[in-house]
Amino acid sequence: MPSMRNTYLSFLLAVFALFPLGVFGRVITSLSQLQTQYDFVIIGGGTAGSAVANRLSENADVSVLVVEAGDNNVGNTNLEIPFLGVTLPGTSVDWNFTTTAQSGLNGRSIPYTRGFVLGGSSSVNLLTYHRGSDDLWNRWAQLSGDQGWSWNSVEKYYRKSSRLVPPADGRDVTGLVNPSAHGNGPVEVSVPGFPLPIDDIVLNSAKQLGGRFNFNQDFNGGNIIGIGYMQSAIGEGERSSGATAYLNPVFDRSNLDVLINTRVTKLVNSATSGTPHMNIVELAQSSGGPRVRVTAGKEIVLSAGVIGTPQILQLSGIGNANDLNALGIPVILNNADVGANLADHPLLANYFQVQSTGTWDDVLRDSNLFGQTIGQWQADKTGLFVDSPGNTVGFFKLPAGSPALSGIQDPSSGPKSAHTELIFVDAFAPFGSVPQPATGNFVTVLSAVVSPTSRGTVKLASTDPFAKPLINPNFLGTNFDIKAMVQAIHDALDFMAAPLWQQDFKPVPFGDLASATTDDLKATFAREQSVNVNHPVGTARMSANGGVVDANLLLKGVSGLRIVDASIFPVIPECHVQGAVYIVAERAADLIKTAHNLS
Ligand SMILES: Cc1cc2nc3c(=O)[nH]c(=O)nc-3n(C[C@H](O)[C@H](O)[C@H](O)COP(=O)(O)OP(=O)(O)OC[C@H]3O[C@@H](n4cnc5c(N)ncnc54)[C@H](O)[C@@H]3O)c2cc1C
Ligand SMILES: *[C@@H]1O[C@H](CO)[C@@H](O)[C@H](O)[C@H]1NC(C)=O
Repeated sequence: MPSMRNTYLSFLLAVFALFPLGVFGRVITSLSQLQTQYDFVIIGGGTAGSAVANRLSENADVSVLVVEAGDNNVGNTNLEIPFLGVTLPGTSVDWNFTTTAQSGLNGRSIPYTRGFVLGGSSSVNLLTYHRGSDDLWNRWAQLSGDQGWSWNSVEKYYRKSSRLVPPADGRDVTGLVNPSAHGNGPVEVSVPGFPLPIDDIVLNSAKQLGGRFNFNQDFNGGNIIGIGYMQSAIGEGERSSGATAYLNPVFDRSNLDVLINTRVTKLVNSATSGTPHMNIVELAQSSGGPRVRVTAGKEIVLSAGVIGTPQILQLSGIGNANDLNALGIPVILNNADVGANLADHPLLANYFQVQSTGTWDDVLRDSNLFGQTIGQWQADKTGLFVDSPGNTVGFFKLPAGSPALSGIQDPSSGPKSAHTELIFVDAFAPFGSVPQPATGNFVTVLSAVVSPTSRGTVKLASTDPFAKPLINPNFLGTNFDIKAMVQAIHDALDFMAAPLWQQDFKPVPFGDLASATTDDLKATFAREQSVNVNHPVGTARMSANGGVVDANLLLKGVSGLRIVDASIFPVIPECHVQGAVYIVAERAADLIKTAHNLS
């Protein structure tokens, strides 16, 4: 939300720069503190990397190094306050990527946020937590050729990764969530802890309307379709991330070193002939700074995320040979799927002006009110800021006969998986470029396409490992994606016309939404205003045939290297994606332990 950031960033930085970063356990910052060899070197202390580091270092006989480009999460209160997630893009915890010019967005380039801090993107994301529909995992099993990825097989890893906790206000949530759909792992998941007036309108409208707007009691029960309460990675009013759940609690393990502020610049082949053996990691702290090498005695776990992972592979000579040759990088392995198959969810803010004053628009307008709300969070972890904006959400199938589906196979994973999503926000949420009006009350309905068919790429712009790669998600690049987004706009309009809204809120379409009266104008509105949900996957895709990694997540064509992060996803989940990242990480940790006869 750029305008929220502009208004409040300097205020927040002034408040929170005062929190000092202490020395925590084995977190190291200097290359001189490294050993020359570890059993496992984990590249990226992000969502997946944190989980794998915890599980592997459970065995005290195993030595583990985590290398993270960004800073420590501990001590940064901005990361802890759920509501402030929307203010983090463009700050010190973001890689500050931008897409290439997107033809589906009328030539616009848009910001592409990725976490640059321990916990990675789970430290900066908007917290929604979904494990993925049963269909999704069964499709992964089919695409990977391994029943080990089916829902029945991965359910234990879901239950090992997260658990349901009470909302921040501790109220009774009977009927709003199904406790038996949840596990007992370290990531804390809860429903909103500060209920808002629109929540009941949304949920009760779903119960009244039924049909395509049916109520869903628990999105983590296997079927994602319907409207229900948001579930987020929040416990006791604080963000629960890969870092807070998995890594911070084990900083004091003596067999675990966590090196921060350091980038992996490439992987080095130690085999003199035959199959490349990628067991050496090269590190640096600045573009021109000294390079230091560390060896992985057992294997390297590459968890640098959807952008970092293909970038590191390409810098190492693993990728599309034509692209590597053009940059003068010696080719170790030619595989055109490295950096390909990038998929992401496009997002559009649909604004409605409302009559009710029960929205939080003024919190964004009035820095005193904003400061008081921060103060309330700090005093006892209550109030608006215990939640990420958006307490209710829905997932939808396209209507039968939708023009989006004409002539193509349905891209969703099955009957329990959606095509589109709507998120209901109790104010003018400045996603995209439209600034918050100076007066008035609003409801924002964020619409997204969650089974997109567009695919894009991540390619090197330079051989400098500190240079940003070229990121082309190809947003709204297919007929399906634009038609599905137009249907999602219709759904937002239809749902906001439901009877319960007419009592106090009386929503009226606002701004460009109001003038987008035809399907063509709606498509133009989508191309001019869409941004992203930040759910990229697929740039090192797992596949039975082709792809980049096999069903055990080992890089095909080399030895010694496993990839564990969202880049291995064979297809994009039709929901929010971090839950699936934790499941992948938990299963990967078991695969690694088995491969090396570790307990
Ligand atoms: C703004 C935003 C909002 C989001 N909202 C949601 C949401 O509400 N719900 C949801 O489920 N998902 C959400 N996501 C997506 C979700 O957070 C990510 O899909 C998930 O965290 C990715 O995990 P990962 O392990 O693949 O990568 P990451 O968590 O990004 O980890 C990669 C790590 O590798 C590090 N790294 C990269 N390159 C190097 C290098 N060369 N050397 C050393 N380290 C390196 C990075 O700094 C980072 O810490 C959001 C993401 C963003 C950015
Ligand atoms: C992103 O920009 C912020 C603000 O300028 C900066 O502090 C941060 O270091 C940048 N991130 C990277 C990876 O350079």
